[in-house]
Amino acid sequence: MSDSKPIVLGLPKGRLAKEAAALLAKAGYDISPVAGSSRLLVHDCGPLRVLILRSADVPTYVAYGAADVGIAGRDVLDEQARDLYEPLDLGIGRCRMVVAEPADAPVDAGSPIHLRIATKYPVITHRFLQSRGITAEIIKLSGSVELGAIAGLADRVVDLVETGETLRQNGLIEVETILEVTARLVVNPARLKLRSETISTLIDRLAGVL
Ligand code: PRP
Repeated sequence: MSDSKPIVLGLPKGRLAKEAAALLAKAGYDISPVAGSSRLLVHDCGPLRVLILRSADVPTYVAYGAADVGIAGRDVLDEQARDLYEPLDLGIGRCRMVVAEPADAPVDAGSPIHLRIATKYPVITHRFLQSRGITAEIIKLSGSVELGAIAGLADRVVDLVETGETLRQNGLIEVETILEVTARLVVNPARLKLRSETISTLIDRLAGVL
């Protein structure tokens, strides 16, 4: 029996959406309706139905099968550690997760202060600190994380850096990179079995243009 239903793709809105659209176009999937200025959250694009999501929600939609596949950064995937099939590193959305601190108030690693670190990524941050044997209080934020260190909420932040402009404009400097981030194609494992031909075609076509 042929599978004519569209593949439901969870796509993060923002910077990654443009790069993903270009990659999908090369692979023969036109999702240009997504680029329009409408506030629509679902776009029917022939063989793909595209859901416009917050990046951190992509793994959730795919894990529950509300999306068959998704495009998500290694940052959110590592943070959530869900049971998803991850067939491709798409090489887009390239950035780094770093520890940063105010240039004019560096942490003195030698002094035994109670270190506070603000981040959207408490799991990754905790793992990193553990691997270094560093004790710190992790403060979870939802965005504009750099402000945490500027406003005195925390001594340091763990956040994503792409161009470095946000850090620079806000007087922060990088201390250390803790994760190299790119976006991955993720697939609901059960859906891959049920719709193996359709989903494998998408994976193969994307693999062919990487
Ligand atoms: C991300 C990230 C940094 C910024 C880095 O924030 O959290 O703040 O981009 O980019 P840059 O190095 O090119 O300046 P985003 O714009 O996604 O919003 P957020 O602050 O709500 O997380």
